[in-house]
Amino acid sequence: TKTSLTGIKPTGEPHLGNLIGAIEPAIAMAGENESLYFIADYHALTTARDPEQLHHWTRAVAATWLAAGLDPARTIFYKQSDVPETFELTWILSCITGKGLMNRAHAYKAARDANVTAGEEPDAGINMGTYNYPILMAVDILIMEADLVPVGRDQAQHVEIAADIAGSFNHVYGSGYRFRVPEAVIPAETTGHTLPGLDGRKMSKSYDNYIPLFLPAPKLRKLVRRIPTDSTPVEAPKDPDSSAVFQILAQFAADEVVADTRARLEAGGVGWGDLKNQLADVLEERLAPMRERYEELMEPGSDLDDVLAHGGEIARERARRVLGSVRSAIGIDR
Ligand code: TYM
Repeated sequence: TKTSLTGIKPTGEPHLGNLIGAIEPAIAMAGENESLYFIADYHALTTARDPEQLHHWTRAVAATWLAAGLDPARTIFYKQSDVPETFELTWILSCITGKGLMNRAHAYKAARDANVTAGEEPDAGINMGTYNYPILMAVDILIMEADLVPVGRDQAQHVEIAADIAGSFNHVYGSGYRFRVPEAVIPAETTGHTLPGLDGRKMSKSYDNYIPLFLPAPKLRKLVRRIPTDSTPVEAPKDPDSSAVFQILAQFAADEVVADTRARLEAGGVGWGDLKNQLADVLEERLAPMRERYEELMEPGSDLDDVLAHGGEIARERARRVLGSVRSAIGIDR
């Protein structure tokens, strides 16, 4: 069997993109693979500065996984920070990772390009955590000996970097220990790329354009109404593929409903307002049962913290074993 692993950063309320891009595909993969899913709380620290919020969002992301159907009896489910071996291995792998590889990582490059465009110092306001981020992520994957990493398209480069780093290590130290070389598993793309957000760009916590998963129904409907549409009149035929509302609907509605909606849009006579109401209904139907379970888990005294603590111990045991082999392979513990 193969091992699948993925993580989510607790930097905001979990949103529709996280569910479609990562959580649901990962839970589906847990059936036929060994699986490890975790909350990347130390990754959040590159931007998180409010301790209360970091704590809240860590629990919120964990509760979302469980509400979406993760079975902790089948999946090792934990917080990154409960596996401190991660940070020792991060140093070790930093020492065999080229600085040039990090210069090309997209999040750092985007931050740098934005500074240049704004006429600032290229590295202004960029912390070392952001720069080293892909190495920490590589370690998350490699220390658990994962083969498959279910992620949205935006994380594919990071998984390639992890594979590169594994290759460098294996090249130098392969006679002592070899990392498994991971590959990304990106969900089938029915409508194009990543799920769009409220401004039509990729739905993302960093763009603040996301639709949180667990809003009360009226708020959810209100947000859906904010998704931009063009000014095509109600009676005119519309292009479903250039509509963010349709793209989101396509991910959440049943296939027959999607096909039928596509045909009705192309024929004309359906207004964007109608389509938004339909989307709000579809989302509400899909999310309401999950929301209930989520709210129970977020209550103080729910079993959420125990579930994470237990998974943390199992994950840590596994990491300890791999780190031990690495230490011996590099000549630290002979
Ligand atoms: P994060 O927290 O930004 O996102 C979590 C997962 O959700 C996916 N995703 C999307 N998928 C489709 N459409 C969207 N609009 C959308 N927005 C987000 C992301 O692709 C991701 O799969 N660096 C990672 C966390 C991480 C990790 C790891 C992942 C840390 N270590 C090891 C895998 C393996 C991140 O920031 O994801």
